[in-house]
Order: sequence, then C-alpha cells, then structure tokens
Amino acid sequence: MRSTPKTDEAAHSMSVLEVKNLGVQFDTQDGAVYAVNGLSFSLDKGETLGIVGESGSGKSQSVLAIMGLLARNGRASGEALYNGRNLLTLPAPALNKIRGNRMAMIFQDPMTSLNPYLTVERQMTEVLEFHKGLDRKSARAGSVRMLDAVKIPEAARRMGMYPHEFSGGMRQRVMIAMALLCEPELLIADEPTTALDVTVQAQILALLRDLQRDFGTAIVLITHDLGVVAGLCDQVMVLYGGRVMEQGSAQHVFHGASHPYTLGLLQAVPRMDRDDVDLRAIPGAPPNMAHLPKGCPFSERCALAEAHCHDTLPALQPVAGTAHALRACHRDAATVQQQARRELSHG
Ligand SMILES: Nc1ncnc2c1ncn2[C@@H]1O[C@H](COP(=O)(O)OP(=O)(O)O)[C@@H](O)[C@H]1O
Ligand SMILES: [Mg+2]
Repeated sequence: MRSTPKTDEAAHSMSVLEVKNLGVQFDTQDGAVYAVNGLSFSLDKGETLGIVGESGSGKSQSVLAIMGLLARNGRASGEALYNGRNLLTLPAPALNKIRGNRMAMIFQDPMTSLNPYLTVERQMTEVLEFHKGLDRKSARAGSVRMLDAVKIPEAARRMGMYPHEFSGGMRQRVMIAMALLCEPELLIADEPTTALDVTVQAQILALLRDLQRDFGTAIVLITHDLGVVAGLCDQVMVLYGGRVMEQGSAQHVFHGASHPYTLGLLQAVPRMDRDDVDLRAIPGAPPNMAHLPKGCPFSERCALAEAHCHDTLPALQPVAGTAHALRACHRDAATVQQQARRELSHG
C-alpha cells in the first residue's frame, strides 16, 4: 500500500518524534500529583524505544499525554514534536487527523480499541474510508491484506466475525492490524502482550519486528518487563516514580547499566545464560505517587541509599564514556555495578 518505496525516503535521518522535558500533572483532592517529570527522547524513523518500569511509574500517562488522551484532571507540559509540530498544543481537529492515521496506539486490552458491536470488517473498512477516502471495495481489499500481514488465517472469511469470536491472541492481532491500517509512522504499544501467554507474546513481538522492517514504523513499546524489550528496542528508558532513572541504547542498558533500579529489574529477567532459580524481584512496593519521598524516588527501596539520597533528588546526567546514556543516581556507577555483581555471586 506504501506509495513510495523505502529507498526514496530522505537519506538523512530525522526524528519522527522528539519529546522534550515532558511532564504530566494531575489535580487531585490530595493536591497535585506529578505523574511524569522531565522526560526527553528522540525517535527516528524505524526505531524502537522501550519504556520500562513497574506499575504506576508513569509509562502510560507519558504516551497518553503525547496522544492528547489524558484524563480531564491531567495536564501535560513540555514539548512532543511530531515531525516538528508540537502535539501538546495542536488544536483538536489537527490532532485527530494525525491520530489513528500517522500515529496509532495499541493497548493491553484489545477491547479498548475494538467495538464489540461491529464486525472486524466494518471497523477496518471505516478507518480506511475515513482516513484514506477509499471506497468500500478497496477498503475491504486493504483490510484483508492487513489481516494477512498480521498472520490471521483465512482473513477474508474471518473479517465478517465480531471481536469476541476471536481468541485473545488473534484479537490482539486484529487490533494491531487496525492500528497499522493507515501505515502509521509512529506506533505506540502500551503493554501489548502483557495479557497473553508466553508463546503468543513472542509471536506478537516477532510480528511487530517484521511489520517495522516492512513499513519502517517507529515504535514506542511500553512494558513492565525488561525481557520483552531485549530483542526489539534500540533505545531503552527506565522509569520509576514518574522520573527517568536511566536511559540509553539497548546495548548500554542491558550491558552497562549503573542505576540500582535498572540492575534490580535486570536481575528479575529470566536469561538463558543464568539459572532461573536465581531470579529475584526488587523488595518493596512502588511508591505512592501522591506522597513521593523528598529525594530520589527509589531511595526507600534502594540497598545503596545514603542520607543524601533520601534528601536530595538526583539530576539526570550524562554517563561518562557513553554516547547518549543518562542516569539519575547519587552513587557512582562503579560502586553500584560492583554491588550488583556481589549480590549475584552470593545467592
Ligand atoms: N486521572 C488521574 N488522576 C490522578 N492521578 C493519576 C490519574 N491517572 C494516573 N494517575 C497517576 O499517575 C501514575 C502513573 O500512572 P501510569 O502512567 O498509568 O502508570 P503505568 O506506569 O503503570 O502505566 C499513577 O500511579 C497515578 O498515581
Ligand atoms: Mg500502564
């Protein structure tokens, strides 16, 4: 369906999405909740960013802010430049034109974006008729092609079914097909595989990788599981308590991480080269966002926290000797890495 072949695109890379100092604030009866603070990243065509963190760390609100979908008591600050235009200040009609067309989102629960009362065919053809101005016949052909692309067997026949008639994994594929119908430049996937069993999860992730290769889609992939982003992401951002703890290339985060929280998450990821019995979760629970500690949000659960960590918020700073890695931690990188190695070697 792509009209220009990939090779005709501009040779120089340009960010599809550039987020600068994004913040999300909610007004609540308890006062202001700062759910997201100082988030910045830049995503090129065909690139994948993984946003990782435990439940409540601000992952969903970050991307909902970018898509203009915050709850009514929420407000976004900073900038989210989509091809140079700030989405956060774009008037609703302009934003609606981009949303679902150039920019699409998929969720953990497919029923949040599928209409239970309409057949899949009806829902898909409507999207193509609305955004691409196709007639019914071409819209139908385009829909079948996309269901084929996400590997739904007998797509032409199954298109006449209602969402509930599909299995969980197949319904997730339908949602991905819907999201990709207009060949978006940017796909935001918020825990798209969390509800699925491991085998189906792997299939869906492989599918995203293939679609990215074929269509050059830039992807923001949100997950609470660092293992999920391992094979798919170019960049990784680790959030805790609404702040970036560590951020950099996937290579850096998986092999050179130096934030106690990232290292804690890594120790909770099952790996081929290590005994799964050795898996350990980070002790303690995520913080209450309405009552964050004064200093580092992770200080309450951090084995390396000192008095200073509890009192003063660490700034997000470049990591010496890396290309673009950042970390927010008062303790020096070598000390943190040494401690993590010690923990692993003492069972
Ligand atoms: N409508 C709201 N009003 C007040 N606080 C909210 C609202 N929505 C979300 N939050 C706060 O934002 C925090 C981050 O939420 P979210 O981004 O959804 O977390 P997750 O990382 O699990 O996706 C939550 O812990 C909650 O405190
Ligand atoms: Mg979420």
